[in-house]
This record gives sequence, C-alpha cells and structure tokens, in this order.
Amino acid sequence: MEHRLSNRDLKSWRLLAVVVGALAAHSVLAQGVIKGDPSKAQQIVTQVCAACHAADGNSAIPVNPSLAGQHPEYTYKQLMNFKAQGGKPAERNNAIMAGMVANLSDDDMKNLATYFSSQKAKPGVARDAVLVKQGEAIYRGGVAAKGVPACASCHSPNGAGMPAQFPRLAGQHADYTSGQLKAFRVGQRANDAAQMMRGVAAKMSDQEIAAVSEYIAGLR
Ligand code: HEC
Ligand code: HEC
Repeated sequence: MEHRLSNRDLKSWRLLAVVVGALAAHSVLAQGVIKGDPSKAQQIVTQVCAACHAADGNSAIPVNPSLAGQHPEYTYKQLMNFKAQGGKPAERNNAIMAGMVANLSDDDMKNLATYFSSQKAKPGVARDAVLVKQGEAIYRGGVAAKGVPACASCHSPNGAGMPAQFPRLAGQHADYTSGQLKAFRVGQRANDAAQMMRGVAAKMSDQEIAAVSEYIAGLR
C-alpha cells in the first residue's frame, strides 16, 4: 500500500533537503574557527573602519551595516569575498569595500573579524508597527504559498544566527538588510554558498522585503 504524503509533509521535507544540502556544501567550504588578535586590529579600526561602521561596530548610518557581535567566521568570509584575488574578480561586489580590503593581509582580516565579534551589539529599533507584524510572520513562518522558507530556520528565532554557518541579523539597519535582499534577488550579490539567499530572495516582493527588514531591525 502506498503512503500518501500531504502537501505539508512535502513542503517541510523539501525545506529539510535544502537545509541539509546547504549545510553539506558549507562544511566543505568551512574556514574553521577564526581566532585573531583584536588588539592588533585597533589601529586599522580607528583610522579606517570607524568612519563608516563606528569604532564599536554599531554603525549610526543606515546604509553601512553594523558589525558588532557578528560571528568572526562570517565577517572574515565577507572581507575575503570583497577582495579580488589571484586575478579573479571579487565574489562580493562593492566598490567602497573593495578599496578598504585591498591592502589588508589575511591576519589583518582575522584580527578585524575577531575585534568586531567581541564588540557588544546595541539593540536596534523598528519604527513601523504594521510592517513589523507582517515581517514577524515571514521571519518565523516564511511565505508558504510562495515557498519562501522561515528566516528563523537558518538565522535562529532571535536573529543571533548560527556560528559559523549563518550570520547574525538582529538589530541590523533595515535599509542595509533590504538592500542586501534586493541584491541577492537579482544576483548582484552572489557569494552565498549553494545559492541559499538568492533562492530565498528570488521569491520575495518589495513589500515582503521591507516588512521582514523592519522586523529584523527591532529583533533582539
Ligand atoms: C566609506 C565607508 C566605509 C568604510 C571606511 C568601511 N566600510 Fe565596510 N562597508 C561599507 C558599506 C557601504 C558596506 C555595505 C556593502 C554592500 O552593500 O555590499 C560595508 C560592508 C562591510 C562588511 C559586510 C558586513 C555584512 O554584514 O555582510 C564588512 C565585514 C565590513 N564592511 C568591514 C569593514 C572593515 C573591517 C573596514 C575597515 C578596514 C570597513 N568595513 C571600512 C562602508 C565602509
Ligand atoms: C537555508 C538557510 C537560510 C535561510 C532559510 C535564510 N537565510 Fe539568510 N543567509 C543564509 C546564509 C548562508 C547567509 C550568508 C551568505 C554569505 O556567505 O555571504 C545569509 C545571509 C543573509 C543576509 C546578509 C546579512 C549581511 O549582514 O549582509 C540577510 C540580510 C539575510 N540572510 C536575510 C534572510 C531573510 C530575511 C530570510 C528569510 C526571508 C533568510 N535570510 C533566510 C542562509 C539562509
């Protein structure tokens, strides 16, 4: 006798398959635990990064991401991705950050990643209650009708992420978050292993992106 699967079974199995596949891809790429020397990053932070990200990594400017409390493995990966290496183009395209990382050594990037991970993230604020409510539903439950998975399944329910696979999102500026989701949606940002974020963002409308970004800004 054949066992009939419900639609719900199929959906959760498909998501599980995506996540397991993604984790497998990630463990191949895993860079291991990053342990830099934060004191050696201090001079670069003060002279370069602080102007845009603030010395404690809590950026006051909405288009510049906050870096405080982020997993060092993620930050190190991004710095590497901004850098064009060995004649190959950068994996993450951003003219400003490309200039910033051009002269950083591997040790500098590890030290910077460790420095910012050790800074305390200040809680962010969401302003639009209607958007927050819609965003919360997407963050926790996805958009079932479109096959958008719950953000919480990878980034954790409180937005702290999961070291070293999934970045912290909680408290990030909504402008920055929505900008990244739109960049993933059109493939302008394409440094996500196994196209995990491109797959998620491709199915989201501007309205859904605005809502989930607003919710994330106030998440703690
Ligand atoms: C002139 C402003 C400016 C300066 C100075 C600057 N950044 Fe950035 N940084 C940005 C912007 C803008 C972005 C967003 C890029 C994008 O949209 O992809 C960014 C993104 C990043 C990211 C990615 C964060 C994430 O959540 O994915 C990291 C990591 C980072 N910067 C680290 C640094 C470090 C370390 C320094 C100092 C060596 C530095 N930045 C200096 C403007 C700046
Ligand atoms: C299957 C796992 C998975 C799911 C589900 C997922 N993400 Fe992600 N997300 C990732 C990974 C992995 C990255 C890191 C990509 C990289 O290496 O640059 C990421 C990165 C991001 C970033 C970039 C962070 C930064 O600082 O630049 C944002 C924003 C984001 N995700 C938002 C979301 C939202 C919103 C949802 C739900 C609609 C979601 N994610 C669902 C795996 C996931």
